[in-house]
Amino acid sequence: MKSGVILISGRGSNMRSIVEARTGLEVRAVISNRPEAQGLEWARSQGIAAVAIDHKAHATREAFDAALAAEIDRHSPDLILLAGFMRILTPAFMTRYPRRILNIHPSLLPSFPGLHTHRRALDAGVKVHGCTVHVVTSALDAGPIVAQEAVPVMAGDTEESLAARVLEAEHRIYPQAVRWFLEGRVEFLPGDIVQVRAATS
Ligand code: GRF
Repeated sequence: MKSGVILISGRGSNMRSIVEARTGLEVRAVISNRPEAQGLEWARSQGIAAVAIDHKAHATREAFDAALAAEIDRHSPDLILLAGFMRILTPAFMTRYPRRILNIHPSLLPSFPGLHTHRRALDAGVKVHGCTVHVVTSALDAGPIVAQEAVPVMAGDTEESLAARVLEAEHRIYPQAVRWFLEGRVEFLPGDIVQVRAATS
C-alpha cells in the first residue's frame, strides 16, 4: 500500500475529501504549520497522527522546512499532499521529494497563480474558472499539471459563491489525482508534461 502525509494550514476540507474518498492511500500523518488549524482536530478524530510545526517558532524558512522534512521523513511517505498549505517551500525541500509533492490550486493554471484567485477571476470577467492539481516544483503554482476541473462563472457570482463551486470540484479532482498516482498511471513526458495513462481493465 502506498502512503502519504497531508500538509494543511486551516480548515482541511481537501484533506478530508482525500481521507474520505478511500483512495487506497495510507495517510500516515497530517501536519500543519498552524497549531490552531481546524483540520488537525478532525484528523485526530479519525485516528490519524496530527502534528503542528509552528512556522513562527522557526527563525528562517530553511529552519522551518528542515523541521518539516524531519517530521515527514519519520513517516516515510510515498506522496506529500499539500491541501490548503499556505507556506512557500524552499527549493531544498522540493528537491528532497522530486515528483512526490502534489498541490491543489483554486484556479485553472496557468491562469491566476498566487492568492485571491476567485476575486481575480471575477475581476477578469472569465466565464470559466476551476481548480488544478499539480506537481510541486520550485516555480510557484507552475509545476506539471495532473488534473483540472472547470466550473462556470455565473451571473451574480460573488467571491464566496464562486469559491464554493470551485471547492466542490477540488474535492473531486484531488482524490482522483491521488488514485492515478497509486495506480501508476501518471507518466512524465519530455518537457515535464504529465500524461495520465488510460486504466487497464
Ligand atoms: C482551497 O481552496 C485550496 O485550493 C486553497 O486553499 C483552500 C484550502 O481549503 N489552496 P481547505 O483547507 O482544504 O478546506
